[in-house]
Amino acid sequence: MPMSKILVTGGAGYIGSHTCVELLQAGHAVVVLDNLINSSSVALERVRSLVPGAQLGFHRIDLCDAQAVEQVFAVEQPNAVLHFAGLKAVGESVTIPLRYYRTNVFGTQVLLEIMQRHNCKRLVFSSSATVYGNPERVPLTESSPLSATNPYGRSKLFIEDMCRDVAISESGWSIILLRYFNPVGAHRSGLIGEDPAGIPNNLSPYLLQVASGKRESLTVFGNDYPTPDGTGVRDYIHVVDLAQGHLAALSKLSAVNGCCAVNLGTGTGTSVLQMVAALSRVVGRPLAHRFAARRPGDIATCYADPTHAATFLGWRAHLDLDAMCADGWRWQQQNPNGYRTA
Ligand code: NAD
Ligand code: UFG
Repeated sequence: MPMSKILVTGGAGYIGSHTCVELLQAGHAVVVLDNLINSSSVALERVRSLVPGAQLGFHRIDLCDAQAVEQVFAVEQPNAVLHFAGLKAVGESVTIPLRYYRTNVFGTQVLLEIMQRHNCKRLVFSSSATVYGNPERVPLTESSPLSATNPYGRSKLFIEDMCRDVAISESGWSIILLRYFNPVGAHRSGLIGEDPAGIPNNLSPYLLQVASGKRESLTVFGNDYPTPDGTGVRDYIHVVDLAQGHLAALSKLSAVNGCCAVNLGTGTGTSVLQMVAALSRVVGRPLAHRFAARRPGDIATCYADPTHAATFLGWRAHLDLDAMCADGWRWQQQNPNGYRTA
């Protein structure tokens, strides 16, 4: 693919920063748009240090600020957009739904309108396996039924619909909706990784903080699910594999006439207890955990059928659970307080 200038919204965040590294290493020029509401500019300094001499620009602005976004397009004239910016905590979305709809849905509407005005119609969007709701059947294919059980999930469904509608309304749009399964791990260098604010909601960052001694014990939400060991099963995917999936999608955009969805997962289900055992092996000691009731809204099992990503994008995940744990652990040890350690 010819090298181009890519606008990365949310590029200072967890998945965005790893994707910036892959884009820069592939020779693209990258411009990040982020308001740093859930991230740090240190992440971008680290990205720069990983790819010296690469072109990485940064605009600290809110995606909902149409004038500021318009200005970025006028100045930078990107060829394509990778759209990560958004709010992502399921529980919080139930408490402050309007903020989720504003940031995620309205923010994306602003972005699409400005892309349309600037005739920049190539977009890769961060969707989620959450759009499959409570699955009737696994593995999940792209044609599995869609539903949502919380405002965060509904915001992703709305955005997917908005993208499909705009792509139908006029020719020239090429949009890939990437439905991520559960991203974990960190860059091998230990320089960039996931840096949750406050108490982590997700399994992997919580468990890493148990390993580092920051938290006492993992609460396993439910051991009475209809799964082999009773705990929830998910498709964990290394964040660097996920980042490389974006490069594959970017190079396929020119073959997309309209809008399509692709799962990014490994195809393998891992239980909470298997994750605890894998990280315990990497850390070299057992990690404390105790069982508690199911977390409201959680599902038993969710994993991808990754066939479409392989056939259409020519992409598949390469890194296994041990690499996810080893790389996550390196990041946690080197940055016990995330980017605030710096
Ligand atoms: P993240 O919070 O680390 O990154 C999101 C970035 O967007 C942050 O840097 C944040 O500062 C920025 N942002 C938020 N609101 C903004 C606004 N109004 N204007 C400009 N920037 C704004 O999250 P992540 O894990 O890297 O997720 C990236 C995307 O992938 C999100 O859209 C998320 O919904 C989606 N996703 C994440 C997961 C996951 O488990 N991490 C799973 C599926 C989908
Ligand atoms: N879990 C625990 N204890 C914890 C945290 C999680 O037992 O402290 C369990 C959950 O019950 C679940 C599994 O670990 O069985 C994974 O939970 P996560 O919170 O890490 O991830 P989810 O699958 O619930 O949700 C994540 C994102 C969603 C996204 C979804 C699919 O938070 O935004 O993956 O991509 F939609």
